[in-house]
Amino acid sequence: MAVIISGKEVSAKVRADVKAECELLKEKGIDPGLAVIIVGNDPASRVYVNNKKKACAEVGFLSEEYALPEDTTQEELLAIIEKLNNNPQINGILCQLPLPKHIDEKAIINSISPLKDVDAFHPSNVGKIMIGDYHFLPCTPAGVMELIHSAGIDVCGKKCVVIGRSNIVGKPMSMLLLHENGTVTICHSKTENLKEICSNADILVAAVGKPKFVKADMVKAGAVVLDVGVNRDENGKLCGDVDFAEVEPKASYITPVPGGVGPMTIAMLMKNTLMAAKIQNNL
Ligand code: GUN
Repeated sequence: MAVIISGKEVSAKVRADVKAECELLKEKGIDPGLAVIIVGNDPASRVYVNNKKKACAEVGFLSEEYALPEDTTQEELLAIIEKLNNNPQINGILCQLPLPKHIDEKAIINSISPLKDVDAFHPSNVGKIMIGDYHFLPCTPAGVMELIHSAGIDVCGKKCVVIGRSNIVGKPMSMLLLHENGTVTICHSKTENLKEICSNADILVAAVGKPKFVKADMVKAGAVVLDVGVNRDENGKLCGDVDFAEVEPKASYITPVPGGVGPMTIAMLMKNTLMAAKIQNNL
């Protein structure tokens, strides 16, 4: 039986710390602010954006929402970002992805000031993460690291396997594990012998986007299993990339879905926004 690492509990602690620091900043006349942009009507994005606004209110940040119609042009979106880049009341800018097909996501990410890029998606911030000299960590991988730390797990020297190589999760996740001296393997859809590689992992991070993809025979007995997936199963019920019922008895630690990595992403966004406010006020 595995220890269940509760993202609900760990994220509440992170948000409480951010709230306390926010109060101290406010005493110095600094009022952290986050702008959240959403384009179109994707229902999942709507839920994420609502949760981000709620978290801002809870920790005491100002939040501004820009809910733009599906047919917003790239130029219109770029103009809004330019204004936000120059608005001193806004410390962080987050443009919810995915964007409608007619908008070039790369152009949008590149247009956000790296100092306000609380997602850490801008190439300049990605480069900083690569060399281990960063202000902002990408929220989901940073949340996974926080969960690992909260359980007292030492990454140093461990065999770490990350399934998934996205720019948002897989690649930066691998880098953060490497920074802590893990021996990291990145697997993806073209990987041969996936089962064998995964079943050697001491720490297994699943970020594939396929419901219940990781089965018990892909997991080493006693492994630490972190599930980044947010999917629906055959009954429409929320589930992760890991088959929890199968894998949990075999793992030493495991994160559930929901209530695992998900709440951490938003907590780390709050942490990044606080950091942005501090940097922009030379603290
Ligand atoms: N869409 C899914 N995850 C994320 C995220 O972490 N940030 C943004 N901006 N969009 C997302």
